[in-house]
Amino acid sequence: MAEQRDKWATKLGLILAMAGNAIGLGNFWRFPYQLASNGGGAFMIPYFFALFFLGIPVMWIEWTIGRYGGKYGHGTLGPMFYLMSRESLKPKSALWFGVLGGLLGFSVSSLLSSYYYQIIGWSAAYTWYSLTGAYFGQDTYKFFVGYISNTSAVLFFWALTMVLLGIAVGQGVSKGIERWVKVMMPALYVFAIILVIRALTLGSPVKPEWSAIGGLSYIWTPNFSALSKNFFKIALAAAGQIFFTLSLGMGIIHNYASYLGPEDDVALSGLATVSLNEFAEVILGGSLAIPIAFAYLGPEKAIKGGVGLAYMALPNVFMHMPAGRIFGAFWFLLLWFAGFTSAIATYNYLVAMLEEDIHIDRKKGTWMVFVWLFILGLPIALDKTLLVLTDMDMWVGSYFLVLLGFFDIVVGLWLFKPDNFWEELHKGAFINVPSWFKPIMLYIAPIYMLILLAGNTWNYAKGGVFTLSPAYMQDLVKNQALVSTTIGYAKHAVTVARGMIFIVIIIGAIEAYMAIKKKYKEELEKNEVIIKL
Ligand code: PHE
Repeated sequence: MAEQRDKWATKLGLILAMAGNAIGLGNFWRFPYQLASNGGGAFMIPYFFALFFLGIPVMWIEWTIGRYGGKYGHGTLGPMFYLMSRESLKPKSALWFGVLGGLLGFSVSSLLSSYYYQIIGWSAAYTWYSLTGAYFGQDTYKFFVGYISNTSAVLFFWALTMVLLGIAVGQGVSKGIERWVKVMMPALYVFAIILVIRALTLGSPVKPEWSAIGGLSYIWTPNFSALSKNFFKIALAAAGQIFFTLSLGMGIIHNYASYLGPEDDVALSGLATVSLNEFAEVILGGSLAIPIAFAYLGPEKAIKGGVGLAYMALPNVFMHMPAGRIFGAFWFLLLWFAGFTSAIATYNYLVAMLEEDIHIDRKKGTWMVFVWLFILGLPIALDKTLLVLTDMDMWVGSYFLVLLGFFDIVVGLWLFKPDNFWEELHKGAFINVPSWFKPIMLYIAPIYMLILLAGNTWNYAKGGVFTLSPAYMQDLVKNQALVSTTIGYAKHAVTVARGMIFIVIIIGAIEAYMAIKKKYKEELEKNEVIIKL
């Protein structure tokens, strides 16, 4: 049944690939601004809480689901969810869970890539602009706006990134992805460590009361009073960050785990992925953007840096720092590497889908996916306000991930049955997961996710996001748009984003339905499980 599938060639390669998958722009760009805009030390409390009660459990579940799917020759969520649901449901009912998983996995991989690859493109551009000193002596905000409005530059750096991604993915899992990450991941750690040393030895270059250490204490001083004032908002943001940074609820951890052998360890490896990512996030990521901005721009501006912290605030710093061109280039190359090794995973998900479901060969599939992602990315690349990106991220980057994570538990644990899951998790495992962790996975994590979903829904309803209320449009125009724009344009941007989401969901659902129907035709007709490994 299982066809000859590619497999990770080495344990080290697998661990680096998974670390590369998780360590991304989320760690160095998203984490600092989430942290800064949610009260620093206030954010870290629900963050660690979510890491323990959501991050670790869901990571183990996704590794386990992925390896199980790989045994049957699948690297995508549709068939994986179908196969596991069959433990409790008849094939005809299990099919619907398959469709749900398939449409979510396809949508997240496609839509997340449509805007995430752009940001990787910005990092490529800024590496270049740092080396040439292009933004030195300029207003960095205007420079950034100028860059985003410069369509040919945006297209060039984005396409360059996509071509390199295509080359890496086209070479396959063990011969492509694994080889690329073996070079890029160690380099990433080296860049990050050099930058951290630089950041922590900055002293107080501008004003005696501004220092990098001040930035660190903003992060590491638990601030319960700030947390209690905005508890729900901060807790939601922290849990969302855990999902994003660990690549959970995306389908890509499952996909990478599908290239394991059926007896390869997942328990310790899943934990290693979490640890490597968290080291890169809280230790390295936490010691860069915020401390550097605290030293050069002062606490107030650093905290207000928002989404632009990495691209608008820090260039200010590099131009005043000795050897700033080099350090600037290190910083943006770090972002580029981090983004690239994550992007490989969403790209591979889509290629695996073509390969396994419609037997298109990898090279051809790679370029088909290239075209698909180019079409999806174009409206975002051409949008100077970044509103399409903003609206898209509100759905995909937070909502979909939690939804998919929730169904990971429904399918991988409940429908697959808790005892089967526990056995599967421990097959070939290098460690024993303590049994008190089981109720966390079975009950606490899913309830936590339901609260997150309800909280997000509530916030969106209140903010008029569903109804495209005038208040929401105003907010987009005033607070979210990169350049000043009109209500009419904001409406247009939101419509484009929602339209894209809608179309992608439909395609994902049809694809999953047809793929499962075709592959498991006989057992679906008889409505009895036939294929069992
Ligand atoms: N964990 C990744 C990050 O932190 C999330 C991601 C993976 C985003 C792949 C896009 C593509 O950036």
